[in-house]
Amino acid sequence: MVEKTSSPHLSSTKVSRREALHLTVGAVALTGLPSETTAAPTVPDAAAPRATLGLTVNGVTHTLDIDPRQSILDVLRERLGLSGTKKGCNQGACGACTVLVDGRRIVSCLTLAAMHDGAQIQTIEGLESNGALHPLQQAFIDHDGLQCGFCTPGQIMSGVGCISEGHATSPEEIKFWMSGNICRCGAYPGIVAAVADAAGRA
Ligand code: FES
Ligand code: FES
Repeated sequence: MVEKTSSPHLSSTKVSRREALHLTVGAVALTGLPSETTAAPTVPDAAAPRATLGLTVNGVTHTLDIDPRQSILDVLRERLGLSGTKKGCNQGACGACTVLVDGRRIVSCLTLAAMHDGAQIQTIEGLESNGALHPLQQAFIDHDGLQCGFCTPGQIMSGVGCISEGHATSPEEIKFWMSGNICRCGAYPGIVAAVADAAGRA
């Protein structure tokens, strides 16, 4: 593709996408070089406040010393090693981080862990039972409810919540009550079919 530009270096020159990319990457690399004079030293913040928290995650109780600014998502992934819950946008817009807290579905990236001392949390890792998939996990397989799979843990946890709330009585209702869960691959027909199927079995 040919682009016109007012840059003195590029004017009257035909620039390919590849050349433009090289120029951009080069500029970013130059401005991003670390400098001994500007790099900030890493100093442990001894004065940072801490909070002690009790959480039961997938039936296992944990007592944790955390930074009170940590989200449930970061506690799950970084402290407990439960990386099944995904960090998509980290700002409440995609639903990839959905888990159940005391039976209610929440976006864990926007939920402070310190505000849920004593909570019962269920994540995708806790859905199977004695090696058998949860009916909704199986339904996602049966209905091709995924492509890349990144949104899938959040979709499934949201679907479990949607069914238990009684909001899965029709495809239209499922679409409405699952609308906070975004799938960039567009696997929505399979997702809706899977939730409808599991709701029928539940
Ligand atoms: Fe939490 Fe997107 S990662 S809503
Ligand atoms: Fe890829 Fe949903 S399966 S984002």
